[in-house]
Amino acid sequence: MELEGMGVDPFMQHLSDYVEHIVGIKVTNPALEKLRDHLYGTESCFAQPDAWERIFSSPGAVFELAGLLTVNETYFFRESAHFSLLLREFLPIFSTLGRPVRICSAATSIGCEAYSIAMVVDYYNRTAAAPVSGTIEAFDLSQAVIKVAQEGRYNGNAFREDGAQWRAVLDRYVSPSADTFIVDPDLREKVSFYPYNIMDGLPAGAYDLIFFRNAFIYFTPESRIAVLDTLAKALSPGGFLVMGISEIAAVEHPLLANCYKENAFYFQKQAALKVEKIVAPFGTGTKDPPPTPELGQRPKPQYRKIALTIEPERIAELIADDEDLWPMAETILALLRTETPSADMGNTLITAAITLMSREDFSRADAVLSCIERYDTSAYTHFLRGEYFYHNNRFKDAEYYYKASIHEDTAFWPAFYRVSALRAKESKVQYAYHIKQAIESINRGKDRCYEAFIGGFSPDYYQRTLEKQLTKLDE
Ligand SMILES: C[S@@+](CC[C@H](N)C(=O)[O-])C[C@H]1O[C@@H](n2cnc3c(N)ncnc32)[C@H](O)[C@@H]1O
Repeated sequence: MELEGMGVDPFMQHLSDYVEHIVGIKVTNPALEKLRDHLYGTESCFAQPDAWERIFSSPGAVFELAGLLTVNETYFFRESAHFSLLLREFLPIFSTLGRPVRICSAATSIGCEAYSIAMVVDYYNRTAAAPVSGTIEAFDLSQAVIKVAQEGRYNGNAFREDGAQWRAVLDRYVSPSADTFIVDPDLREKVSFYPYNIMDGLPAGAYDLIFFRNAFIYFTPESRIAVLDTLAKALSPGGFLVMGISEIAAVEHPLLANCYKENAFYFQKQAALKVEKIVAPFGTGTKDPPPTPELGQRPKPQYRKIALTIEPERIAELIADDEDLWPMAETILALLRTETPSADMGNTLITAAITLMSREDFSRADAVLSCIERYDTSAYTHFLRGEYFYHNNRFKDAEYYYKASIHEDTAFWPAFYRVSALRAKESKVQYAYHIKQAIESINRGKDRCYEAFIGGFSPDYYQRTLEKQLTKLDE
């Protein structure tokens, strides 16, 4: 974009921003130049400044143009440990579910990944007492790679050393044909390929297993947050997400638990994050977070009515106006011993919890918080429970609740801020990633008076602090 001696080319900058917005990926300069040349060839972008925006507003055109923008590198049984994971961990679990499963190879490229999955499923089913039934879907942004995938014809580049241990399985389903290799028609039938942009979202709770590998790295930091959220929500409770080896470190989502088996990292959707908190009985807030439930043993949700009114603006006012909050907190505690709070006491209860915590009276803060938790599962309550653990040096537990808070409200920047602080000892890349997430969340939630929950300093103050940390990391 930066042409020597000419500064930034505004057209290319605009095009880059626009493409990023639509497809989520950071496009390289050579790819952008190809796109620009292509667009100039089809319509006069100078004569009609919005011509290319019109072109991009059709999904079909985006799928056509994606071939100019994306990196489609792939091969059979790439990162082979993931297929051992499928064979030895996921499929035995799926075969106990007693229902068809839905598997997705997202950003599949020319289909080697999806066919490798189909081969392992078929191979497993040949000897399994309870075979796994269901569907395998595969999509990619680029129409061109989807056509190759549907045809199932590959050259030698699709077979590499990594994955060679699966050669015996591969040979069952792929045969030489002239100077290429063709996937067995019966196996081709088992995968349905279609063009799709993951930025358009995925159906909620639809998939038991998603492979989304070696694509995440190309997405911008902002899009990564959205894509991860899409993936987490698209999994069924207890479902599995497999990402590329180089991408694991950047994955952070309150619904996704880190797992490791068969020499591979993967993620499992936590089935009961909300439920665990909602049913926590009075005074049990200090318990360790419960373990992730296994598939097939999901607890029945027992939602309580959420009744408390909580308004950050009002809480900020209460904290600012009240000369001495201490008597108010005392009154609340006395009242809670005998009475059930009413809905309109939400702001007072939260203010009392903040006050008690700021005075380091943690046992009474715990009592108030536990009461709030019986009626409310908002970002505010989760955050305050996180604060409770944070100030008691129980950082793992704190992070668990901060993430729950983030899950409820992606603009609740105090939770992002704390998570970034908890990640300060990690690698530079990870720490920087969390700082950037925190800065983005401040921009989303600047005007919502959330500072009342974290010391009362302005969001700008926290933003400057984070930016300083980022600068230090770059030095
Ligand atoms: C390097 S390939 C990865 C292929 C395969 N998953 C693997 O690990 O071998 C990355 C793929 O992501 C696809 N992609 C990029 N942005 C996408 C988007 N917004 N929606 C769907 N696919 C996308 C690209 O077209 C490309 O084929």
